[in-house]
Amino acid sequence: TVFDCSIIDVSKVHNYAGNITVIENGINIPFDVKRVYYLYDVPGGESRGGHAHYELEQYLIAAGGSFDVILDDGKNRKTVNLNRPNLALHIVPGLWRELDNFSSGSICLVLASHKYDESDYIRDHDEFLEFKK
Ligand code: TYD
Repeated sequence: TVFDCSIIDVSKVHNYAGNITVIENGINIPFDVKRVYYLYDVPGGESRGGHAHYELEQYLIAAGGSFDVILDDGKNRKTVNLNRPNLALHIVPGLWRELDNFSSGSICLVLASHKYDESDYIRDHDEFLEFKK
C-alpha cells in the first residue's frame, strides 16, 4: 500500500500457450470501468502524467514492459515500479502522479472510473498543494 493505493494481483489464466489476465466490473476491480486507454510509443526519457484528479479512480497496468509511477499526496512522494501485466496499481482520487522510466516498447494500460473530463484535472502542482491543505 502506497498512501491509499494498493498493487493488486489481478491474477492470470496460465497455460502452455501463455497467459490471459481478466478484469471485470464487480469482480476484481473496486469501481466500474467507464473508459479504457493506453499509453505507448513513449520516447525514451519522457515523462507523462503530472496531474491529479478530484474524482477519477484508475487502475494502471504495465501491459508490456515497465515504467515507474511517482505518487505524491502533497506531503510525501513514493515511487512504484510496474513491470508485470497481472499487477494493477489502484490510484485513488486526490493524488499527484507522474510516470517515467518507460522501457522501450512499454504499454501503460489505464482503466478509468469516469469518462474524460478536463475539469476533473488539477494540472498545476501549487494548485494541488492548495487543494490538499
Ligand atoms: P493526459 O491525461 O494529460 O495525459 P498524460 O497524463 O498521460 O500525460 O492527456 C493528454 C491529452 O490527451 C489531453 O490533453 C486530452 C487527451 N485525452 C483525451 O482526449 N481523452 C482521454 O481519455 C485522455 C486520457 C486524454
